[in-house]
Amino acid sequence: MIEISAGTELVDESGEALAVPVFEDLVLGPGADWIAAQLGAWLDSYLDEEDFNGKLGELVAVPTGGRLPFQTLFLVGLGAELDTERLRQAAGSLGRRASRAVDVATTLHQVDLDGAAAAVTEGFLLAQYRFDKYRSEPKPAKTERLRFIGAGAEDAAEAAIRARVVVDAVITARDLVNEPAGGKSPETMAGLAVEIGSQTGVEVTILDEEQIAAEGLGGLLGVSAGAHRPPRLVQFDYRPDGARSFLAIVGKGIVFDSGGLSLKPAQGMETMKTDMSGAAAVFGAVKAIASLGIPIRVLGITPLTENMPGGGATRPGDVLRARNGKTIEVLNTDAEGRLVLADGLSLAAEAEPDLIVDLATLTGACHIALGDKIAGAWSNHRETLDVVLGAAARVGERVWPMPLPDDYRKNIDSDVADMKNTGPRYGGAINAALLLKEFVGEIPWVHLDIAGPARWPEDEHYQTKGGSGFGVRTLVALAEDLAG
Ligand code: BES
Ligand code: MN
Ligand code: ZN
Repeated sequence: MIEISAGTELVDESGEALAVPVFEDLVLGPGADWIAAQLGAWLDSYLDEEDFNGKLGELVAVPTGGRLPFQTLFLVGLGAELDTERLRQAAGSLGRRASRAVDVATTLHQVDLDGAAAAVTEGFLLAQYRFDKYRSEPKPAKTERLRFIGAGAEDAAEAAIRARVVVDAVITARDLVNEPAGGKSPETMAGLAVEIGSQTGVEVTILDEEQIAAEGLGGLLGVSAGAHRPPRLVQFDYRPDGARSFLAIVGKGIVFDSGGLSLKPAQGMETMKTDMSGAAAVFGAVKAIASLGIPIRVLGITPLTENMPGGGATRPGDVLRARNGKTIEVLNTDAEGRLVLADGLSLAAEAEPDLIVDLATLTGACHIALGDKIAGAWSNHRETLDVVLGAAARVGERVWPMPLPDDYRKNIDSDVADMKNTGPRYGGAINAALLLKEFVGEIPWVHLDIAGPARWPEDEHYQTKGGSGFGVRTLVALAEDLAG
């Protein structure tokens, strides 16, 4: 784990690399002014050669050739109008470029912005993430020490250490999502949940297949029927003293979605190891919230199974009975996420929390509507939705509110059961959300369809191609807000 420290004043420091902020049109930020004075005309002529103006995302690495007590100077472009997400992104560009520097000193925390040090830490560390456990070549080095120097360094280091806990949780989620399905059976994932429990003191309960049946979790059981590897249901219960609120979080945990008997085409299956990203977000969020000791109760529920077309598989036309007693006609076995969430949400509602948030890579329709980088949000309670949207906005996770119209409920009317698991193609993400709504009772609830952003399509600022850990940071911010 990267070491974080506070240094002294810039004049007294030395090291391998120094990163300083520069705003648009080469307006020098804290630390950069002093450096520029040291380097004088030499820096001006160096920058004349580079195409660097200080715009957001621009970055130049200056080999100082002994002119400074740092071998490399990074000028980090922050643009004209800074906010925390822009700073996080700029720090991401820096993290990616600076990954071969073992020691990086910075004055970036001194920009005039609340939460600057945390944003710098998150961006820097998340950009250096790699999933290379299956590569034969040795891992390229990563930065081992991040040092905040100059005014406010002590406070910055303290905030950075908290931010590192959040980053660690996002990385837990990314690692889980990137893991091939063959390496993450429901049983393996449940084992990891137990590990998180013992690291954090969170109580963890695991239901095996028999208990899942005994508890009446017919949705989860039905989806798992075609798989050889048996399902699990993980329940985390974090109950700190003096809890000020009670949040339930439910994550879709399909470790592989083949579509079941309604089999997906080959291309549609390529990324379906990521279909447990909602569960991964719950694992990460519980880990971070408990590690930080945020004073709210959190119940985390993840139904875990794979969706496979075995001989015992649920058939189109079969009817399943979920935990709350409602029945669902399965017309398409590829609409499996809502079936396992029906049970997860029922369990969450039984616990009578103040609010429920679910996260799921639920529909291709939402992916099509909002693209790769924005999640859709549905809710039965406007104020609760606003709280979740506010938390997401604060951490730079993009979430867009979507409608939940009552008159569309007939889209999922079934000829034989209380509802069916598919509807018309149009409004597919809404039809799915309307089904979920049947399982939360009167509890304020927000559903996040993360089918797009759960998997980032490219290396970009602090995101890396593949599992993004989307949702973890929103949930931690939400927990902080609920703690007041
Ligand atoms: N896991 C998929 C949704 C998905 C698609 C997530 C692409 C990420 C990227 C989900 O289980 C699914 O297959 N949904 C179907 C539902 C349909 C059969 C009603 C879909 O969206 O096509
Ligand atoms: Mn599916
Ligand atoms: Zn799925």
